[in-house]
Amino acid sequence: MVAIAILAAGRGTRMKSDLPKVCHKLGSLSLIERVIKNCLSIEPSRLFVIVGYQGEQVQKSLEAYSAIEFIEQTEQLGTGHAVQQVMPYLKGFTEDLLVLYGDVPLLRESTLRGLLETHQTHQNAATVITAQMPNPQGYGRVFCDGQNLLKQIVEDRDCTTDQKQNRRVNSGIYCFNWSQLAEVLPQLKTNNDQKEYYLTDTVNYLAPVMAVDVEDYQEILGINDRKQMATAYEILQTRVKDGWMRAGVTLINPASITIDDTVELQPDVIIEPQTHLRGNTIIGSGSRIGPGSLIENSQLGENVTALYSVVSESVVKDGTQIGPYAHLRGHAVVGESCRIGNFVELKNAKLGKNTKVSHLSYLGDAILGNQVNIGAGTITANYDGVNKHPTHIGDRSKTGSNSVLVAPVTLGEDVTVAAGSVVTEDVSDDSLVVARGHQVVKPGWRLKSQKNKPSS
Ligand code: UD1
Ligand code: CA
Repeated sequence: MVAIAILAAGRGTRMKSDLPKVCHKLGSLSLIERVIKNCLSIEPSRLFVIVGYQGEQVQKSLEAYSAIEFIEQTEQLGTGHAVQQVMPYLKGFTEDLLVLYGDVPLLRESTLRGLLETHQTHQNAATVITAQMPNPQGYGRVFCDGQNLLKQIVEDRDCTTDQKQNRRVNSGIYCFNWSQLAEVLPQLKTNNDQKEYYLTDTVNYLAPVMAVDVEDYQEILGINDRKQMATAYEILQTRVKDGWMRAGVTLINPASITIDDTVELQPDVIIEPQTHLRGNTIIGSGSRIGPGSLIENSQLGENVTALYSVVSESVVKDGTQIGPYAHLRGHAVVGESCRIGNFVELKNAKLGKNTKVSHLSYLGDAILGNQVNIGAGTITANYDGVNKHPTHIGDRSKTGSNSVLVAPVTLGEDVTVAAGSVVTEDVSDDSLVVARGHQVVKPGWRLKSQKNKPSS
């Protein structure tokens, strides 16, 4: 069993933000949520988050994770000081403590498991994740013997010119034997350039301490500013998109596509350029999404197409065509083989099979049966200025162009609505409803002022 401490008390000044750094979102999850999700996957016995600067806000953003114990570090006196805060909580604890940072979001679960395994097989006092960094500036440098036994970690600012040549850096991610660490933590001094208690100094008092290089240095990149945030997002996107392409999904011009790591795609899905898939979206086999579509928190079946459209919080069943320029605004459930065409907006609307809404319509709070045909410009007037009301349309009914269905209203099955009607009362099955002024034609009629003008 292992306890985990996530350090997240720092200010994050370089973000230049009112929001605490670790609360900034990288895709669908905040930096710290990503770290926490990784931690939960290894089922720790205790999970501590050390908060300080805007701690309440960090704590609030993590309300959903009930396993977390928050510890306040009132003054940020260094990484060693941050871990000292855990001591009262782990009195008599005899297992290991994993230390992570809240602003290092790209670490893979497998790397974390690898760290634990190395630590436990070698029965180390401490095991540190290290990396060979192309640009090691800013990181603590790690000095080892030939067996990866660690001799010293020197902070960048405390390094000699010679020491700076070493590209092997400290990730800041460690596994410690807790009882051994607890003995050395109180001995830390602040005899360094920053006058801080450095967690890295504990390795001077512990043995054996082992370093494990992570293969992909990008995993340990920390986020300090918005530029690093953008870099991290790109790394994450590359991982997600490469993964889907290996799993049989076609991405046309992947650089222009973004896919949250919470999305699920089946093989033979085709994602066209400028398309963005977000949240808990699932897309079935054979579907073609885009170009230019945004799909969020929606479930699309097989062989669905969505062209230049926005689909939010909705369900679309097999074989349905969406767009161009359709907007499923929320809680739309569209049945199989339907067509939702140009400039159509659906909100809280349930459509049966083979129903067509092809042009220029708004359907809100509506329930439509199978094989319904909604004429161009048909609108459900669902809002009376105070309340929303439902519209029901039975199987095989057709509405003429530019009809307005004033809710609450029910059209039965096989109803035909004449073009331009304003329907305010229920219509029974097998009926034609005409609800508009009669056409009046007056032959030979002209405006008075025009009477004496010669016709041109
Ligand atoms: C630290 C390491 C360095 C390593 C680098 C990797 C030390 C002394 N140095 O340096 O060797 O290469 O991380 O990114 O440990 N924090 C607190 N309380 C504090 C101080 C920091 O919670 O009092 C948190 C910060 O919020 C941050 C993390 O600890 O998440 C790292 O702190 P930071 O000051 O950025 O350490 P570095 O100087 O980057
Ligand atoms: Ca840092």
